[in-house]
Amino acid sequence: NLVQQLPRAIIIGVRKGGTRALLEMLNLHPAVVKASQEIHFFDNDENYAKGIEWYRKKMPFSYPHQITIEKSPAYFITEEVPERIYKMNSSIKLLIIVREPTTRAISDYTQVLEGKERKNKTYYKFEKLAIDANTCEVNTKYKAVRTSIYTKHLERWLKYFPIEQFHIVDGDRLITEPLPELQLVEQFLNLPPRISQYNLYFNATRGFYCLRFNIVFNKCLAGSKGRIHPEVDSSVITKLRKFFHPFNQKFYQITGRTFNWP
Ligand code: A3P
Repeated sequence: NLVQQLPRAIIIGVRKGGTRALLEMLNLHPAVVKASQEIHFFDNDENYAKGIEWYRKKMPFSYPHQITIEKSPAYFITEEVPERIYKMNSSIKLLIIVREPTTRAISDYTQVLEGKERKNKTYYKFEKLAIDANTCEVNTKYKAVRTSIYTKHLERWLKYFPIEQFHIVDGDRLITEPLPELQLVEQFLNLPPRISQYNLYFNATRGFYCLRFNIVFNKCLAGSKGRIHPEVDSSVITKLRKFFHPFNQKFYQITGRTFNWP
């Protein structure tokens, strides 16, 4: 009686927030089944045109009592996605994992930089992309900056879903202290608490928590998760933090979750 079920919860973002770690860690729960790949159904017009049955067939097999979760971080920032998800299931649960916005932007840059380097291409320095050379102000056209303005994106989602349908995960805390963050998600998803400290162990070589499924099977995330960030000019960091500050305040206000972001 295995079936392919549409997701009852989606990790909609944020890119570089720790979306992979969150999905893999939730998958430790016996009642959670993950879609391993990013499906990009709602943000990609070509995929979306294939219809909901195409999407369902991309889902893993599970037992009826289990819940399927997928993650595609591009959903959070893509204009059309909230309406499309609403049309599929207006009561779906939505997970958003965030990190301190400036750190997230640098992580985003680091990923793109690595892609360029792999192709032997040179790339701009972060400082050049993040600051407008003419005005010396933060370059709001730079995608890595825009993605970190969490409140702007969330406000678009709130036209379709009430705030109660969202749960915000602290991506910085998921790195240092994953269990309490996962327990909050279990509660949000109405799952019995099953993930325990046994399932998470710190791997000093990796510098991150890794996952222990049982006595024989454990795994760490791929090496592309947890990159070393390039050093960024401190005046640029300060400028970015100042820029994000009012947006962060609004985000705390809307979500009811406050972070110690500078
Ligand atoms: P960095 O590469 O900047 O360190 P995403 O999966 O959304 O792309 O997020 C990647 C980020 O997940 C990494 O960003 C890393 O810091 C974070 N992360 C959180 N928990 C992790 C874990 N247990 N192992 C590896 N990376 C983890």
